[in-house]
Amino acid sequence: MFRLSFLPRAVSRAVAWCFLLAAFPALALDTPMAPNEAGLTPIERLGKRIFEDKTLSSPAGVSCASCHDAATAFQGVNGSPVPAVALGSKPQSLGRRNTPTIMYSSFAPPFGFIDDKDEDTGKVEKVPAGGQFLDGRANDLLAQFEGPLLDPLEMNAPSKRFAVEAVRDGAYAALAKEVYGEKVFDDRDKAFERLAQAVVAFESSARFHPFASKFDEYLRGNAQLTAQEKKGFALFTDPRKGNCIACHVGKEDSHNPQDWLFTDFTYDALGGPRNTAIAATATAPDLGLCKRPGLDKAAPKGFEIDSVCGAFKVPTLRNVAVTGPWLHNGVFTKLRDVVAFYATRDTDPARWYPKNEKGKTEKFDDLPANYRENVNRDEIPYDRKPGQKPRLSERDIDAITAFLETLTDRPQPATSP
Ligand code: HEC
Ligand code: HEC
Repeated sequence: MFRLSFLPRAVSRAVAWCFLLAAFPALALDTPMAPNEAGLTPIERLGKRIFEDKTLSSPAGVSCASCHDAATAFQGVNGSPVPAVALGSKPQSLGRRNTPTIMYSSFAPPFGFIDDKDEDTGKVEKVPAGGQFLDGRANDLLAQFEGPLLDPLEMNAPSKRFAVEAVRDGAYAALAKEVYGEKVFDDRDKAFERLAQAVVAFESSARFHPFASKFDEYLRGNAQLTAQEKKGFALFTDPRKGNCIACHVGKEDSHNPQDWLFTDFTYDALGGPRNTAIAATATAPDLGLCKRPGLDKAAPKGFEIDSVCGAFKVPTLRNVAVTGPWLHNGVFTKLRDVVAFYATRDTDPARWYPKNEKGKTEKFDDLPANYRENVNRDEIPYDRKPGQKPRLSERDIDAITAFLETLTDRPQPATSP
């Protein structure tokens, strides 16, 4: 929530709410507990019902919303005992990756290779970009839907047919018929595709991209950033300082929030520390993009698949303050630590990585030794050597953290009926 700086806090809140209610009248009608379907088209409403349907899992009890909770920017862990990974529908079925926010996901292009021009040499290279999941293994949202539904560690539905029949026999079958016609359930394969389309329609609705953060209001000229937030923004975009914008992209001359998604959906290896709380990755490291099925077919000739072991999709930073823990393995529990890691990963690695038996700091310990050279060590801010001055001071780290906190959308209406 943005504050108008010239008014006392309580007054400014009230003013801000009046503004919001005027701009979004749907909010005024909804209490947080009420089913919130205001402003959704019939197909989006159907998608929402499917998204929240706990009968689609086996055993019943887990829906998409269990892990993608509207209250925390559509991510969460379904009450998992391990904060970094979610609990599925079967007892003790823990996942291997941190749940990302799925807000702004509909802006990701389908998975593919795009042209990337090196600013210095002018050379054009094909680089992987887009897709859904942190390794892009689903081409788009439509293809993504069956992933968690059928994953034994997530919803564990025995088949697509199972999901179609659950909807056919469930509480909102009439809505599905209203959207797709009386015969919607006759052909099971087609019916599944249509359920997926409805969920994609919901995930592509404004609820998932309200552009309602303080930063958006700042872009629109309706709010001011504090001096510290402004400094953080400047460091974020400064190519000699944070250089964050190189991957968490925004169009610097644009005041249109849509030009500020804080990702270009490309992939990179950041080399974050191993999270020992995830038991599964002790024996089977999470190699990210290089394990994406079909990558060899999608890649241009000569592309070395092994060179992207350890690379994950650049996440949006919208709502990042409420989506912890952070990184694909949830190793960081404080947002400031993520920013501090960028600053001192290379100048003070002992702060972040454990020592091996020989007493040496085991840098990039989440990756097998032969893939550690894939980690990005050229680009600012991580182009430093031990003993060199970090690109960012402690106060710079505070300022960037404060800036990241301006990217939180104002609370979204509840999704559970
Ligand atoms: C048990 C928890 C859980 C459930 C249930 C779940 N998800 Fe997810 N979701 C995750 C995790 C973890 C990831 C990241 C997985 C990966 O990258 O391999 C993810 C990734 C995604 C992504 C990709 C986001 C991105 O940035 O690439 C989308 C979209 C998504 N889920 C939608 C859904 C939908 C739709 C459902 C219901 C059919 C669902 N999820 C059910 C945990 C869950
Ligand atoms: C060369 C590309 C690149 C640059 C430059 C970069 N990032 Fe990232 N960032 C990534 C990638 C890739 C990830 C995901 C890494 C992972 O999960 O292992 C990430 C993850 C993050 C996360 C965690 C998000 C989450 O949801 O878990 C934060 C916060 C973040 N970056 C902030 C920054 C800041 C602040 C800067 C500048 C100081 C910066 N990044 C510079 C590529 C980059």
